[in-house]
Amino acid sequence: MSDTTARTPYGTLPAAAPLPPRKPISLPRLQEMRERGEKIAMLTAYDATFAAVADHAGVDCLLVGDSLGMVCQGRPSTVGVTLEEMCYHTECVVRGVRRVQGTVWVIGDLPFGTYQESREQALRSAAALMQAGAHMVKLEGGGWTVETVRFLVERGIPVCAHLGLTPQTVHALGGYRVQGRSNAEAERLRRDALALQDAGATMLVLEMVPAALAAEITQQLPRCHTIGIGSGRGTAGQVLVMHDMLGIHLGKTPKFVRNFMEGAASVRDAMAAYVAAVKDGTFPDDALHAW
Ligand code: KIV
Repeated sequence: MSDTTARTPYGTLPAAAPLPPRKPISLPRLQEMRERGEKIAMLTAYDATFAAVADHAGVDCLLVGDSLGMVCQGRPSTVGVTLEEMCYHTECVVRGVRRVQGTVWVIGDLPFGTYQESREQALRSAAALMQAGAHMVKLEGGGWTVETVRFLVERGIPVCAHLGLTPQTVHALGGYRVQGRSNAEAERLRRDALALQDAGATMLVLEMVPAALAAEITQQLPRCHTIGIGSGRGTAGQVLVMHDMLGIHLGKTPKFVRNFMEGAASVRDAMAAYVAAVKDGTFPDDALHAW
């Protein structure tokens, strides 16, 4: 084996540079990263092999997103994804990261219709994802989710909230469009974000929110780490759908996405380049945000 390759349980992967051993990502470690200004690099993942490669590339967090409905199942939206499917893909991802460094923080997405009815329904659904191996669950929505978040956190389940464009409610929002442009919408996002931090959410995805607003919300939330997607570079971290950043999106690629496969020798190198660009602040490019 040459010194530019690395043997992994999934075969021999090109090694851009050997990774320094790192401590597993945990909530205290995410807080430490935040305090020293280190950005959090997150990708989505849906299977063991790509999860293992992402772990090998130094990705901090993997979100088993219900975007799998679109990228793996070919559905028009995330709405049809079931809890059983989310548990299955979460188990696959967790097996993948355990085979390599095992340092990645894994977030399982609660699908549509599995947490809206009652706090008890949300607890049952969240418990299924945690038993599948997730370290944290994610749910979408504003003020109405606050009491659910508090209920889960009090019972030992770390929660990532999700504001801005919430794909599960795409039909109610009238399409995949920027949120928080009007003063009233921006004020509601600020208020919801603060309430979610107070309820114990330790992460918050901000999707397609104007960059200045996302940066302002980030400053207001020292204990809840904002993860931006299409929301500028002022958040505590970034997330992209893995297929988008590898340039293999089936539909229209959102304009804030960068194809990290361009010029990369391997998927691992593309992911490592993404991690480096998030950490050094060269991704995202605010010029790609017209909002
Ligand atoms: O399901 C998903 O992949 C997501 C990300 C786009 C944040 O929610």
